[in-house]
Amino acid sequence: MPKILVTHQLPGERIHQLPDHCDMNVWMGPGLLPASGLRDELVGCDGLLCLLTDRIDEALLDANPSLRFIASMSVGVDHIDLAAATARGIPVGNTPGVLVETTADASFALLLAAARRLVEADRFVRGGHWRSENAWSPEFFTGKDVAGATLGIVGLGEVGQAVARRAAGFGMKVIAWNRSPREVPGVEAVELDELMAQSDFVSINVALGEETRNLIDARRLGLMKRDAVLVNTARGGIVDEVALADALSHDRLAAAGLDVFEREPVPEDHPLLSLPNVVATPHIGSATLSTRAKMADMAAQNMLAALSGKQMPNCANP
Ligand code: DGY
Repeated sequence: MPKILVTHQLPGERIHQLPDHCDMNVWMGPGLLPASGLRDELVGCDGLLCLLTDRIDEALLDANPSLRFIASMSVGVDHIDLAAATARGIPVGNTPGVLVETTADASFALLLAAARRLVEADRFVRGGHWRSENAWSPEFFTGKDVAGATLGIVGLGEVGQAVARRAAGFGMKVIAWNRSPREVPGVEAVELDELMAQSDFVSINVALGEETRNLIDARRLGLMKRDAVLVNTARGGIVDEVALADALSHDRLAAAGLDVFEREPVPEDHPLLSLPNVVATPHIGSATLSTRAKMADMAAQNMLAALSGKQMPNCANP
């Protein structure tokens, strides 16, 4: 029987079908499988079913010549050296499609929360600061209008398009930039610098790769309107976090809603976390019970296909 490692207990139904086809070893925790554990547990395995928190680099692939297929319970595969896997003939399965609407909801939730200072206001109420001498007044917790504003979407893939659909409901003007030009009804295609300069809200929805790493750098952040809001539910490495913190703390940008960080979990002393105009969430863009079950089922389906010698239904290799 082929041997596979599953790096976390998974929701969904399909995972329970795997033991009929392989000798399955599931990491039971506590917590996430550490890198040293992954190195040890992977020895002699034919397949790996992993999460986006597992780093699969070339050295790990070299140390495990028996490894023949990888399925990740994620749409993004930037945690895997895809080129190295492809060069070794290892298919890498991913989970596109099923998390699109859920992630677009998260982008919009962050956009609204940052625009209307919801988290700051919640802290204010719970902190016991809402008192008669510090209550409703014309400028009390004033934020930024979403309706009628211009939204710039960086990356017009499935999630970007779902964000555009939500923006239409808010009467926003939607402009977008995509690496390869794409026509979407109701969305005006523009150059990236133009998008940064024109938008009241910028939503990052592009995948992380060598071409998009640090795409939103200090220069591009500098093009943004001073009262603009930046939202990122894609990957931390796309935005220069030092430059972002600098812009947010010197009134060169109004606010940010961030679900993703260059290093996750984000260190407690990260400069962005000390800013009141940052809404931070711990990479929960796809975190609904139903979507996570669908992602797990899709990952297990990819693994089942590989185990029976078939092509994975969703494969990220070029
Ligand atoms: C993914 O699947 O890549 C998402 O980031 C999970 O939320």
